[in-house]
Amino acid sequence: MSPHLVATAAELRSLAREAERAVVMTMGALHEGHAALVRAARELVGPEGQVVVTVFVNPLQFGAGEDLDRYPRTLDADVQLAGKEGADVVFAPSVAEVYPGGEPQVRISAGPMGAVLEGAFRPGHFDGVLTVVAKLLHLTAPDVAFFGQKDAQQLSLVRRMVRDLNFPVEVVAVPTVREPDGLALSSRNRYLSDSERAGALALSRALRAGEQAVPQGPAAVLRAARQVLEPAAVRPGGQGLDVDYVALVDPGSFAEITDDVWRGDAVLAVAARAGTTRLIDNVPLHFGTPHPAQHPGEAR
Ligand code: PAJ
Repeated sequence: MSPHLVATAAELRSLAREAERAVVMTMGALHEGHAALVRAARELVGPEGQVVVTVFVNPLQFGAGEDLDRYPRTLDADVQLAGKEGADVVFAPSVAEVYPGGEPQVRISAGPMGAVLEGAFRPGHFDGVLTVVAKLLHLTAPDVAFFGQKDAQQLSLVRRMVRDLNFPVEVVAVPTVREPDGLALSSRNRYLSDSERAGALALSRALRAGEQAVPQGPAAVLRAARQVLEPAAVRPGGQGLDVDYVALVDPGSFAEITDDVWRGDAVLAVAARAGTTRLIDNVPLHFGTPHPAQHPGEAR
């Protein structure tokens, strides 16, 4: 069924709501990764519930020289895909609708977790993300909001904002959807040439290698991932991946894990540029029993 397409906050407010409402926030150019979020939302709220998909390319989260102007805009196809996957409403506001006062002067600060990894390479990015996520939470007033594990740092920051600022919403994470060859789906994949795309596969291969080294502990995980990325690195004047970081972090803080007997959850995250396209990927890991190199007395 075709979803209801609305462009203003007033229209959104006038929508009837009796049952649970779920929101899936996107910047459009929807693909199977977004579709998985919409399906998960539909499943959770059930046939009586309401699924709202927002489509808004948020200027506030793009830095100078980033791809705001060339970011793909495919609203007709987005509305179709959202409807096919079970969305009731697509909210696609204009920039003026979201920022009626022009550039917002009061914003959300992402804090220390917003300054590392992606935040270090994209200053101000997460302030822009959290500001729009906060606004879209106010505008759509959902009971539950769905975010992809693909953007792990964003997901952790949204969880942190919801907790720190008492947003009355439950955050649900959805696993990363990949191409059969491992490439994580992204709206930016369409920028890749064939050879850049082939090179980009080193990202997911590095993550898989890292995952397999979990029993040997954190240092081995990082070593395994870096070993895959090194030969894929850019050659002078040639093609390849320009790696920004490979990091193993605590998903609660995004602080790097330096303790080689780390126990518990972790995220192995990578970012690299293939030509002019910046790609990120990650895998959630769990370090359980101590790895063999550890002395028995060190267990915690
Ligand atoms: P966008 O990149 O369009 O992603 C929208 C949502 O889809 C995010 O929660 C993202 O993590 C998820 N997603 C993207 N690719 C995915 C994949 N391959 N598998 C699973 N989930 C995937 O993230 C944003 O937009 C923006 O920053 C936004 C939160 C909308 C704020 O502007």
